[in-house]
Amino acid sequence: MPAIVVLGAQWGDEGKGKATDQLATTDSIDFVVRTSGGHNAGHTIVINGEKYATHLLPSGILTPGATSVIAGGVVVSPEALFRELDGLVARGVEVADLKVSANAHVIASYHATIDKVTERFLGKNQIGTTGRGIGPAYADKVNRVGVRIADLFDEGILREKVEAALDVRNHLLTKVYNRRAIEVDTVVEELLSYAERLEPMVCDTSLLLNRALDAGQTVLFEGAQATMLDVDHGTYPFVTSSNPVAGGVCVGAGVGPTRIDRVIGVIKAYTTRVGSGPFPTELFDDDGAQLQQLGGEIGVSTGRTRRCGWYDAVVARYASRVNGLTDFFLTKLDILGAWEQIPVCVAYEIDGKRVDEMPMTQTEFHHAKPVYEYFEGWQSDISDCRSFDDLPKNAQVYVQALEEMSGSRIWAVGVGPGREQTVVVHP
Ligand code: GDP
Ligand code: IMO
Ligand code: MG
Repeated sequence: MPAIVVLGAQWGDEGKGKATDQLATTDSIDFVVRTSGGHNAGHTIVINGEKYATHLLPSGILTPGATSVIAGGVVVSPEALFRELDGLVARGVEVADLKVSANAHVIASYHATIDKVTERFLGKNQIGTTGRGIGPAYADKVNRVGVRIADLFDEGILREKVEAALDVRNHLLTKVYNRRAIEVDTVVEELLSYAERLEPMVCDTSLLLNRALDAGQTVLFEGAQATMLDVDHGTYPFVTSSNPVAGGVCVGAGVGPTRIDRVIGVIKAYTTRVGSGPFPTELFDDDGAQLQQLGGEIGVSTGRTRRCGWYDAVVARYASRVNGLTDFFLTKLDILGAWEQIPVCVAYEIDGKRVDEMPMTQTEFHHAKPVYEYFEGWQSDISDCRSFDDLPKNAQVYVQALEEMSGSRIWAVGVGPGREQTVVVHP
């Protein structure tokens, strides 16, 4: 299996860190690669009871022997990068080799400033971003005024690019948002201060990864964010500014689609979302509060409480379709052990009509009401189960039913946050 993609099938925080770790420890993985997003991500891995969170770094940085790669589609805050690396080293972690694409766009502190000001300006229509400057950095990239990692090694070019980027931005900041202008010198100085430490890590990551695949090495693409947060395929405008879907992996890595062997969608046994935007199965009652509490549903990056709801098979089928999933990794099945009966959304009712697939327009999606099918709960602790046969009968029925309605087979099931707490359904 030389090229494997792991990506989020819902609205993020599905357990992509755990799925990556599962693959990295059972298969022999040579490279773990981030291809989109930035330090808006928060991926958790629990090894021998020790909890680690990665944001900009791929969680493969914790896998001995694997090289970590930040590919060209990622937006890189050098400040966040070194803070994260230093944080891991301070905990005694032996961090793996790290490569950063020369093409990756840079997040400077002014991107975060603009992110926060824009959100405030949007008022009740705000997206609920992570405030990390992700949207403004991608906007600069698409506007062709972005600064790339390679630019940090030529002061003259860097200054020219920062001037171009700040030109329009400063008009906006001072005249629309009533803020102080950002000084070119300050930004250039800030970015130059990272150049020396960054330089040995920088390379052509597309060439590196394609050569690795040519040589039969195994590359794991660790997705961040998720399908429903994709700027093209998610719940626009309540999305992130990149393409976390499988197609985005190829663009972000500079690897062709014909090279990808397996695409794993990570999906929770229920649903969560952070930030604003439509969420058909969202619960506002005690069940929602209980899912939030039992699932520990608090954001790894921002500490915000996650909105919670039941499993949505329409979203799962949509994720199967737009990503061409080969498998699902179903996480957090253990959390559902508290319920006598578990509702699963199998379709939507939109303006009086039953709809089985993701509706074409956002307006319809905003009107979608879940049509539920009910499953018997197992009302027991399954966190010590290690094989599918160990699971209580009702849990097996739940997993099989989800597999039938979600459009792809369920490769494995998470029964706890720990590395060992995984049940492989289809080896
Ligand atoms: P990611 O962003 O997709 O990597 O997911 P997060 O790390 O933001 O959130 C997932 C949370 O669920 C983390 O706290 C994980 O440790 C935890 N987790 C992952 N899989 C399981 C599981 O199967 N059971 C339980 N109880 N927790 C899990
Ligand atoms: P991981 O990789 C959950 C959400 C934000 C907001 C929207 C836009 O841990 O699953 P942004 O800062 O990206 O412009 O915010 O996207 N969001 C996430 N939600 N998990 C994430 O990452 C997210 N990354 C961004 O909450 O609604
Ligand atoms: Mg997360």
